[in-house]
Amino acid sequence: MSGIDWPALKSAALAVQARAYVPYSDYRVGAALLTSGGQIIAGCNVENATFGATCCAERNAVFSAVTQGHQAFRAVAVATNGAEPGAPCGICRQVLAEFGSDLEVLCFTPEGAEKRYLLSELLPHAFKLK
Ligand code: THU
Repeated sequence: MSGIDWPALKSAALAVQARAYVPYSDYRVGAALLTSGGQIIAGCNVENATFGATCCAERNAVFSAVTQGHQAFRAVAVATNGAEPGAPCGICRQVLAEFGSDLEVLCFTPEGAEKRYLLSELLPHAFKLK
């Protein structure tokens, strides 16, 4: 699909999933973003005792990428466990959409379940200020 090196992106998502800090949910998420320049920037979920201060893997990946100077993305791979791959939450969809709704989103589990979307399908009519 689209000349994207999905195995490399999935492998980065799995590697960072192992670093998730999840003492409360035990639900590990790893997200790997592919920049338009071909770099892979990853993030995991980091939970907090207040619960509300928890940050999802996808947002940590985006914030890390922006911090490192990247603002254009082609794809994101999201690794979760369970029978069905977990899709990005609503807040993460909005954060991803800030940088373009044509992002390809691959949600997968290590056991081989996979779902592919365009971000525009996951969040139609994203809020935009400009
Ligand atoms: N989580 C993510 O990392 N990404 C999502 O899109 C949905 C939820 C995390 C937050 C929390 O650490 C755990 O999954 C359970 O909600």
